[in-house]
Amino acid sequence: MGRLDGGVAIVSRAGFGMGRGGASGMQARRAFLLLLVLSTLAACGDDDTVVPGGPVYRNPAAPVEARVQDLLSRMTLDEKIAQMHGVPITDTHNINGTPANTRLGIPGFHMVDGMRGVSVTTGPATAFPVGSARGATFDPDLEARVGEAIGAEARAKGYDVLLAPTINLLRHPRWGRAQETYGEDQVHMGVMAASFVRGVQQHVIASAKHLALNSIEDTRMRVNVSVDERTLREIYLPHFKRAVDAGVGSIMCAYPKVNGVYACQNTHLLHDILLGEWGFDGFVESDWLFATHSTVPSAFAGLDIEMPYPHFYGQPLLDAVNGGSVPIDVIDAAVQRILRAKFRFGIFDGKPPLDPATVVESPAHTTLALEVERRAIVLLKNDGAALPLSRTSLHRVAVVGGLADTVNLGDTGSSDARSSYAITPLAGIQKHAGPVEVVDLSRNTLSADDVAQISAADAAVVVVGLTSADEGEGQQATPGIGDRKTLDLSTDQQQLILDVARHNPRTIVMLEGGSAIIVEPFVDQVAAILMAWYPGTEGGNAIAEVLFGDVNPSGKLDVTVPRSADQLPPFVNDQINVEYGYYHGYRYVDKNGLEPRYPFGFGLSYTTFAFSNLRLAASTIAPNGELRANVDVKNTGAVSGEEVVQLYVGYEGSRVDRAVRDLKAFQRVTLAPGQTKTVALAVPAADLGFWDVGANTFVVEPISYVIEVGSSSRDLPLDASVSMAAP
Ligand code: BGC
Repeated sequence: MGRLDGGVAIVSRAGFGMGRGGASGMQARRAFLLLLVLSTLAACGDDDTVVPGGPVYRNPAAPVEARVQDLLSRMTLDEKIAQMHGVPITDTHNINGTPANTRLGIPGFHMVDGMRGVSVTTGPATAFPVGSARGATFDPDLEARVGEAIGAEARAKGYDVLLAPTINLLRHPRWGRAQETYGEDQVHMGVMAASFVRGVQQHVIASAKHLALNSIEDTRMRVNVSVDERTLREIYLPHFKRAVDAGVGSIMCAYPKVNGVYACQNTHLLHDILLGEWGFDGFVESDWLFATHSTVPSAFAGLDIEMPYPHFYGQPLLDAVNGGSVPIDVIDAAVQRILRAKFRFGIFDGKPPLDPATVVESPAHTTLALEVERRAIVLLKNDGAALPLSRTSLHRVAVVGGLADTVNLGDTGSSDARSSYAITPLAGIQKHAGPVEVVDLSRNTLSADDVAQISAADAAVVVVGLTSADEGEGQQATPGIGDRKTLDLSTDQQQLILDVARHNPRTIVMLEGGSAIIVEPFVDQVAAILMAWYPGTEGGNAIAEVLFGDVNPSGKLDVTVPRSADQLPPFVNDQINVEYGYYHGYRYVDKNGLEPRYPFGFGLSYTTFAFSNLRLAASTIAPNGELRANVDVKNTGAVSGEEVVQLYVGYEGSRVDRAVRDLKAFQRVTLAPGQTKTVALAVPAADLGFWDVGANTFVVEPISYVIEVGSSSRDLPLDASVSMAAP
């Protein structure tokens, strides 16, 4: 296509058919004649058909802002208002979206959920391990590839907005949607989210959700979350900021009230912080049914699109503008944000379609799902080298438990995605067992004969955990779904583990679920424990590869596993008023001197690693500078493995209360036996600041910062200090 400047537009056949804004029949005929002339000229060497003076907004070569302003100037008030709400589109693809404007040729949005894969409502798609599993990889590059794959599948299915990532911080592991998010730490969450967004947006717009403090399910439509400004800025918003800085095209506002004001009309969250301070120039859409509560306050706050259809927007918004309670400037600002996204992400000009037959569930994507789960499985306990299972020395393995042969992909709410096949743990173990005999005891109730078989086996793998009946999206109206009632396994599963352990000393517990599960009732009775999360469509293969040692586990907990519920802040299922304090997760147990069962960042390997030689690039850094550290990591064991090097920062002499340590950087590294690598970690000095409520900004204090490096939040063998220069 040719490049044209200065009010000369390229007109395609389709473009001409749609006509110019407000084109009368006379204008259209004139344009047609002109087109004929230009076509004749074009036949002499240029394939493009051009119309001098054609609308700038139709010119793909014109700057986005010029196109936005040009198109906006051609729109009537009704047309603007129509851009600002969803329409129920129920074709065979179950598209949620916003209406097209045929007069001006403005396409609507086609939106689809897709945190673990494109929504099941669109048919099969690659079902990846859930967000908490992907968080456990601590592997942003891998997460970018997952984003790219899900984005491609969404595009191939005809969508242009993916309603993901879910980046509400996991304040408590009983949140019903814990599995969707990357865990409890805001820095780690932000890094993973930014990667996912970059991947997705190679194809479609990503929508980071739900802004903000949306981490209670049963009462999500009614709960009022109180939070002080410092906690908001330091704990609950930084990952949204990282998504914005990564260029996320859309933000979805949340259901709950934040400090008494519903999130989708919360001026502080939307207008002041997101749009004002962060300069977000994408669009904000509401969460689906019942997230909106007003017309005028929502419009002033910066809610651009009410989904999934107009209730407070549409006619009431039109009336508000006509009645003078919403100025046209507010509408124009919203419509500009919507149009900008349509131009910037190629929706307006149309992207070349992707062929679903070659993209959706492609071998590359299902292999990626396998790769993710290999890195997501966390080895929590491995006494006496119970794992890996040797194919040469073991003869018989019993595979026990109701989940062993169950496809357990996770929630059946909006994040539900399913592939046309899924490998259960039993199927994976059978496939990878080689000469080892696999005894199928995939049930929770054991007969006397089953027990005899367990006793006779060389090892027993018990697959237990949670399912979509225990946790997921939805309110208490749907019995069994919503927030978890407990952090414990069901009593029959606990009993099953104890029964198996009594009859087989090499009992290995494979847990499935979306977040922390308390292991106290059986931890001392079993030889090994692993966390497999909701492992995705290839999960059974990854689980088997880890059990047999083809893959060395390298996942790290993105959530603290407590010994008991009282090691975490309280969680009440029917809470209507709740305060989100500064401390949760590892910061909470660290601050309160508690010993969790497994700390944040923890995960074992079949090999061992040694950390040495922490070097800081400088002993003093400037507030606008960067902390740079190098550390040597050696694989001191006999097999190759991957380690996640973690850097935490503590504060000496701060004038405010601060966490014992905060994760600030991490890096995954692959090491052959005996190999040493130097890992470089960097933290912008600005990330060491605290939110100064009086000054209304982040402040980096000229104090001493303690840098700790190691393999989990509680295994930090190296430390050093760095001073911050005064500003
Ligand atoms: C969920 C969102 C989801 C939307 C559309 C809502 O109930 O909270 O996460 O994107 O539905 O399915």
